[in-house]
Amino acid sequence: MNPPFDQTVVAPSLLAGDFSRLGAEARRVEAAGADWLHLDVMDGHFVDNISFGPAVVAAMKKAVSIPLDVHLMISRPDHYLARFIEAGARSISVHLEAKHEVAATLRATREAGCLAGLAINPGTPLSAALAHLPNIDLLLVMTVNPGFGGQEFIASTMDKVAAAARLRAENGWSYHIEVDGGIKEDTARISREKGANVMVAGTSVFKAGDVAAAIRELRSSPRQT
Ligand code: DX5
Ligand code: ZN
Repeated sequence: MNPPFDQTVVAPSLLAGDFSRLGAEARRVEAAGADWLHLDVMDGHFVDNISFGPAVVAAMKKAVSIPLDVHLMISRPDHYLARFIEAGARSISVHLEAKHEVAATLRATREAGCLAGLAINPGTPLSAALAHLPNIDLLLVMTVNPGFGGQEFIASTMDKVAAAARLRAENGWSYHIEVDGGIKEDTARISREKGANVMVAGTSVFKAGDVAAAIRELRSSPRQT
């Protein structure tokens, strides 16, 4: 398998949408050109916020036809994994820092026919994830500390993106590199230049006046000269 990593995927995060009308919000970004819909699941333990669970994921599966990219910011992703697979997730990212047997969770995700993602916090070195890199479909490099939308991009995370892209090429591994947090036109460009190809964006898409233009900019923002 050699997915086209040079093709940018834009995945708006529904966390920044209007929670009183989630289906309409998901359809709004789908119609504007979103490639995937990013769904941030938070349990109030792994992060200091509570968002939504499998029922909302299942509802979004009915609302849109683009792939659902589920990001589990929960303490026990192994315990809840099957419910998110059942809900219709196309990819599921679990945190390296959560309390579970990471390799087993990734394997179970793939065995269920889902893309297996591994997420790492800004403070976690790439070396801590190294053993899993041959066995994942997606590496989610957090560019903010997880928990809340609207935070500022942490530029030092870009070294990990570059290293992950280099290791992938050197070893013939195969994973998307996804960035999440504070992604807007300029930080998307930096991330793409370092080797990321999946752009998660909440605020910069949902709060944009022209959502289609915002998505286009994340895909190919002009280089600043
Ligand atoms: C942060 C979430 C992100 C967040 C991104 O914990 O994982 O997906 O919604 O939001 P923005 O784009 O507003 O930083
Ligand atoms: Zn996320």
